[in-house]
Amino acid sequence: MPGTKIDGLLVSSEVRELVKKAASELKAQGISPCLATVLVGDNPASATYVKNKQKACSEIGIATKDHKLSSDVTQAELNSLIDTLNRDSEVHGILVQLPLPPQCDEFETTSRISPLKDVDGLTPHNAGLLSMKKALLKACTPSGIMELFDHYNIELAGKNIVVINRSNLVGKPLLHLLLEKNATVTMCHSKTKDLERICKNADIIITGVGDRAKFTLTPQMIRESAIVIDVATSRLNGKLVGDCDFDGIIQKASFASPVPGGVGPMTIAMLLKNTVTAASMSKIGRI
Ligand code: GUN
Repeated sequence: MPGTKIDGLLVSSEVRELVKKAASELKAQGISPCLATVLVGDNPASATYVKNKQKACSEIGIATKDHKLSSDVTQAELNSLIDTLNRDSEVHGILVQLPLPPQCDEFETTSRISPLKDVDGLTPHNAGLLSMKKALLKACTPSGIMELFDHYNIELAGKNIVVINRSNLVGKPLLHLLLEKNATVTMCHSKTKDLERICKNADIIITGVGDRAKFTLTPQMIRESAIVIDVATSRLNGKLVGDCDFDGIIQKASFASPVPGGVGPMTIAMLLKNTVTAASMSKIGRI
């Protein structure tokens, strides 16, 4: 019997409903949640992601301020915009869409965002708090994945979980969230040896490679009834795909998330949640 297809659209709509209610309660108290987006350059995928985030904000009553900078912007100019947004009391969340062009340093840029407005959870302050189980603003994709586990009552304690991604946006924050739930986590990456053997031993695989020419997770690589979460997005023959051969995987897995319609909508829902959290923190100036 095939496994259960994890429905990220359904779970994200539940999160959005809660966030919408919280946003309207804040408005009643005179705080109008607002997200500033910063898009540098003309990467079409990044432009689409930002547009989708802005649309999701407007659907649930979060205002947005749109900032577009040209691909030859200097680091100093980008820093200056972030400083302005940090000071702007109408702005509660700041999202600088990544990747940035080569002349801009991602660490310098994201570190400059006020930790109180860091809705991506990327500042050293919030990343550090996450590793100590104290973060209020957590990276969106990892916290979205945790919501999916929660919704489907997937127990994590004692499970062997393999994460194939070590980025600051996904793999590293996810490691901390999974450890908090008492999972045994194996972090894999491009230099990992014998990935197939490691995957075969996993109860849960969370994969985010994003290059089908290099890596595809096939049913032969997973054990019977494993759980598979696909974080990747890439194009294959013009189609949006993840890392998994989903049609094959779902025949063997107990749960699997599709692309599209899996983790992607959760990332956006958690961004909305973080923006409303940041807006509510602005009331008390909490750090
Ligand atoms: N680029 C790809 N995913 C993300 C994300 O979640 N946040 C930001 N800022 N940039 C991204």
